[in-house]
Amino acid sequence: MIVLITGSNGLLGQKIVRQLLNSKVPFIASSQGENRNPDCPEEVYRKMDITSNVEISTVFQEIKPTHVIHTAALTNVDYCELNPELCYALNVEATSILINKAIEINAHFQLLSSDFIFDGENGPYAETDAPNPLSHYAKSKWQAEQLLHLGSYKNWSIVRTIIVYGQGYQLSRSNLILWAKESLLAQQEISVIDDQFRAPTWADDLAWACIKICQEGKLGVYNACGPETLSIYEIVLRIATFYNCDKNLIKKINSKYLNQAAIRPPKTGLVLTKSVNEFGYSPKLLEETLALLD
Ligand SMILES: NC(=O)c1ccc[n+]([C@@H]2O[C@H](COP(=O)([O-])OP(=O)(O)OC[C@H]3O[C@@H](n4cnc5c(N)ncnc54)[C@H](OP(=O)(O)O)[C@@H]3O)[C@@H](O)[C@H]2O)c1
Repeated sequence: MIVLITGSNGLLGQKIVRQLLNSKVPFIASSQGENRNPDCPEEVYRKMDITSNVEISTVFQEIKPTHVIHTAALTNVDYCELNPELCYALNVEATSILINKAIEINAHFQLLSSDFIFDGENGPYAETDAPNPLSHYAKSKWQAEQLLHLGSYKNWSIVRTIIVYGQGYQLSRSNLILWAKESLLAQQEISVIDDQFRAPTWADDLAWACIKICQEGKLGVYNACGPETLSIYEIVLRIATFYNCDKNLIKKINSKYLNQAAIRPPKTGLVLTKSVNEFGYSPKLLEETLALLD
């Protein structure tokens, strides 16, 4: 087994690198630009822009991976809404190139996908529920999925997840839990929506699931998110309680006042029964993970 990770500078990519190193599974990590993950030894890092056919070909020819874990994506939902061409180029066209390269060498291809492929009217969602993406980001993720669903190649998995959080090195963006923790500890007032519901996912749990699916040769779609679906307001309240912060700093608002470019599904959540039964997925509760943050 030799794993090729795309997006190794990202939050999930960094966690996958750490776990593969710890379990001594051979891998090559790749991302655009330089290696920003001090955990990742330079000798296993390759610069690979997923929009560059040439760079992808060079890495595939050298590595000949048995498994590709494709985490790289344009993940900022509002930026995607304002830059749809870039969004589709990265999330769909680049994924298509990578899938074709994987097919050439019969490598397992694993795609990271999102709860946002659903419209949020009937969450939580099972793997078999019908998608109805609302934004360009969501549509791009669903189109990327369809490259696998509709193709004849069967050696693939899709891992769907929700609000991924945790600490990483030089990340290009923060995440809900870190933002709330840091703001509340700094005694800053924050406005938090109470009309959207999500199951926040500890990045290490998700990384574990991605690797386990590869190691066990699982095929098809698997949900891997946190164990509880809560309103964003409830999530932030629980963070305030954990760190003993003043709850009056948290101002409850409706999402329409955020004026976000992209429409979000009101209530997602993913049903975890299949992942629990098939490979023993056992995600941590929010408070268990808060205890692990610095
Ligand atoms: N984060 C969430 O809440 C969430 C929720 C549902 C699904 N997902 C999915 O889970 C996956 C991982 O998410 P994440 O939170 O780890 O994302 P992330 O932290 O934003 O990392 C994405 C990585 O992709 C890299 N990348 C961007 N453009 C690239 C290019 N042209 N070539 C190579 N690499 C490129 C980025 O590099 P730079 O750092 O250099 O920009 C970044 O390291 C994504 O596929 C995302 O769609 C995430």
